[in-house]
Amino acid sequence: MPVSENGTAQEVAAARVLVGSASDFREGDRKLVQVAGRTVGVFRVEGRFYAYENTCLHQGGPVCEGRYFPKMTAVVTGDGRVLGEKYDESEPHLVCPWHGWEFDLRTGEFCGDRSKKLRSYTVETEGDEVYVA
Ligand code: FES
Repeated sequence: MPVSENGTAQEVAAARVLVGSASDFREGDRKLVQVAGRTVGVFRVEGRFYAYENTCLHQGGPVCEGRYFPKMTAVVTGDGRVLGEKYDESEPHLVCPWHGWEFDLRTGEFCGDRSKKLRSYTVETEGDEVYVA
């Protein structure tokens, strides 16, 4: 078990929460876990894990319980006419279920102001087990 410079092995173990096994965590899955009294959403997107506190920056809604899908972009002609919209698969967005604020799922950034971010957590894998630290 790794021990940081700031704590004993027990303290480090207490700071990590088992989310589940990676093999049971399919692409697109999410799980909510309790970490030090806070609810944290853990997502598997494009083979990577992301974890954020389940508290929206707007009014504290359960952001990690919202839907996520690719960013929606407008299709605009050279002369400024909008032809429609399409998904941009390069940027998954998490949408808060209360009022629709959108966050970049890979960074936690609020899409309306990239200087604001959801509180993120480190996700560690050890063998087939996934932990939030
Ligand atoms: S609380 Fe999340 S959008 Fe309002």
